[in-house]
Amino acid sequence: MLDVSNLQLSYGKRTIISDLSLAPMKSGQLVALLGPNGSGKSTLLKALAGLLKLSKGEVVLDGQNLARSSFEQRAQHVVYLPQSLPASVHLRVFESVLVAAKASALAPDSTQVDEDHILALLKRLGIEHLALHYLDQLSGGQKQLVGLAQALIRRPRLLLLDEPLSALDLNYQFHVMDLLRQETHEHQLTTLIVLHDLNIALRHCDYAVMIRGGGLLAEGQPNDVINSQTLGDAYGVSARIESCSKGIHQVLIDGLRKPIL
Ligand SMILES: Nc1ncnc2c1ncn2[C@@H]1O[C@H](COP(=O)(O)OP(=O)(O)OP(=O)(O)O)[C@@H](O)[C@H]1O
Ligand SMILES: [Mg+2]
Repeated sequence: MLDVSNLQLSYGKRTIISDLSLAPMKSGQLVALLGPNGSGKSTLLKALAGLLKLSKGEVVLDGQNLARSSFEQRAQHVVYLPQSLPASVHLRVFESVLVAAKASALAPDSTQVDEDHILALLKRLGIEHLALHYLDQLSGGQKQLVGLAQALIRRPRLLLLDEPLSALDLNYQFHVMDLLRQETHEHQLTTLIVLHDLNIALRHCDYAVMIRGGGLLAEGQPNDVINSQTLGDAYGVSARIESCSKGIHQVLIDGLRKPIL
């Protein structure tokens, strides 16, 4: 369970998030974090990951106040995949996932890293054929999939993914969302995923949080959060949510309510 209350986040004197409180997020839920460019999604994730000091407020994970946790405790329980792809190192994919797994094994009670487990995860992600390839020789999408493998192998309690689908093709987007949902449900993770594709949020996520200008616009079931009103307020678009012939909800954009310029 993740509790975020009265959060204020700033860069220097500039406040980005002010007084943000969210309903407790239960473990086992895949939560979409939505909002327009510059609304504070990455800033919020960085703060939850402990990379940005809280100006005010609290973040509590399963009863443990994250701001007061040691680096080792955080490394064991919280994993963050940043929005930008990391600079590539000359390391094989398999080794890089092994290194990530060992990073979470800092705590004394952690289990030994199982190499078969790494291969199985690469297979589930559809990248077992890349195991012996070098990271700096992969395509953008392949690197993103390896980043996901590095995050998932650590099996954290809180998984923070900032636009992890941005470089993936349609097939991998669907496949990764399926896998994230399975992992989240099966291992009772709390997974917070930043998405710009609202149809993916509607189709795959259990819960959605939409922010705008660093404040909460709506939270709840994706079907409730993503509607004409919130899409107009957040993104300035005229939008409809229609149910397709298979009963799946889809966002249709009719145009802009007001031009950006
Ligand atoms: N390191 C930084 N120093 C100062 N201001 C920053 C920094 N990083 C982000 N900001 C500002 O904070 C605000 C929120 O940025 P953030 O990256 O959290 O947005 P976002 O919702 O993730 O947007 P996007 O969808 O474009 O990734 C923006 O106005 C941005 O200019
Ligand atoms: Mg961002």
